[in-house]
Amino acid sequence: MAKPELTSYAEVMIGADALHALVVAIWQAAGSAPREATLVADHLVEANRAGHDSHGVGMIPRYMRACREGELKLNTHVQLVRDAGAVLTLEGARGFGQVVAFEAMERGIERAKQLGVCAVGLRNAHHIGRIGHWAEQCARAGLVSFHFVNVAGDPLVAPFGGIDRRFGTNPFCAAFPREGRAPLVLDFATSAIAAGKVRVAFNKGIDTPAGALIDVDGRPTRDPGALFSEGQHGALLAFGGDVAGHKGAGLAAMCEIFAGALTGGFTTHAETVITSNAIVNCMMSVIVDPAAFDAPDKDQEADAFVDWLKAARRAERTEEILLPGERENATRRERAEKGIPVDMTSWAQIIDAARAVGMTDAAIAQYEAR
Ligand SMILES: NC(=O)c1ccc[n+]([C@@H]2O[C@H](COP(=O)([O-])OP(=O)(O)OC[C@H]3O[C@@H](n4cnc5c(N)ncnc54)[C@H](O)[C@@H]3O)[C@@H](O)[C@H]2O)c1
Repeated sequence: MAKPELTSYAEVMIGADALHALVVAIWQAAGSAPREATLVADHLVEANRAGHDSHGVGMIPRYMRACREGELKLNTHVQLVRDAGAVLTLEGARGFGQVVAFEAMERGIERAKQLGVCAVGLRNAHHIGRIGHWAEQCARAGLVSFHFVNVAGDPLVAPFGGIDRRFGTNPFCAAFPREGRAPLVLDFATSAIAAGKVRVAFNKGIDTPAGALIDVDGRPTRDPGALFSEGQHGALLAFGGDVAGHKGAGLAAMCEIFAGALTGGFTTHAETVITSNAIVNCMMSVIVDPAAFDAPDKDQEADAFVDWLKAARRAERTEEILLPGERENATRRERAEKGIPVDMTSWAQIIDAARAVGMTDAAIAQYEAR
């Protein structure tokens, strides 16, 4: 891999393998065991490969700050709190989400294969990142899954009709595995856009899309600074806009309660607002073995529907009607060829984070040059 290239958009382009090796080296230097460093790198680089840069390697500086504050606990594993057969309650203990969510899914997958279904309540994990990663882990085992997540104690999104921040960007995800093909993976923040995408826009100095943000007085704005500038207290809107914002806000509220209350974790309210660099996620996952249903024709039925959907007449400027997960797969193919773009602000912050854990410039350059 050649040295990362500077593009005209003030980004570096770096190959996935070199980026993965750099992330492993950074976390090992910070004190992670090799398996932890690898799981974190797997997750972050995969988020970039899928096109979700908001949840990729750009998270490293924030994780590093949370780690220094003692809020993110390295080398922590998921703990079983209660085993009720088809329902597991697991404690994340502020361990790396990339580790404890992986371990939580492993346990849920094993149980769903035995019983046909398993509901997994994972609480108090540090940031579990791109939720599609966990649905894909279940799909690789041939299992369907649904995931309700809250970003506990991090109010950024206004309720429908309100202008104050009241809940997090609470993602929802559902996946359907398919024989010999990529699974269908629906995975989104219930806010109009993910907070990380506002951060990426802020770092790049560009506007956010219309309809995503309001300022402190509830006026629509496209300035990402409304969320991220010092002293600003604007808010994100839930998805659905003026016409259907009640649906996005309603799903966000159910994510908050299923993930934060039902798992024994915590929901967002005045007493639980987090002011440190910690990002705490709770997740309620339902993992189902499709073989447990009496549905011998499920694949043919799903395929027939997909063909029917794709054959719809297209709106102007739509090249192709996409299914959940197809955009990410297209980005994976493109980035496998061209490399992963990392904006210069994020890249400089990652290099600073590497130096802060004792990596020398020569050591960093060794990864850059792969
Ligand atoms: N851990 C956390 O606290 C947290 C919080 C919020 C979001 N997230 C993650 O942030 C990521 C980004 O979320 P987002 O809301 O920005 O996602 P997004 O708006 O890009 O939507 C992604 C979903 O929509 C589908 N999609 C995209 N374009 C499509 C099209 N043209 N036609 C049909 N389907 C299409 C994708 O396949 C995917 O399922 C997600 O991976 C989410 O899990 C994590």
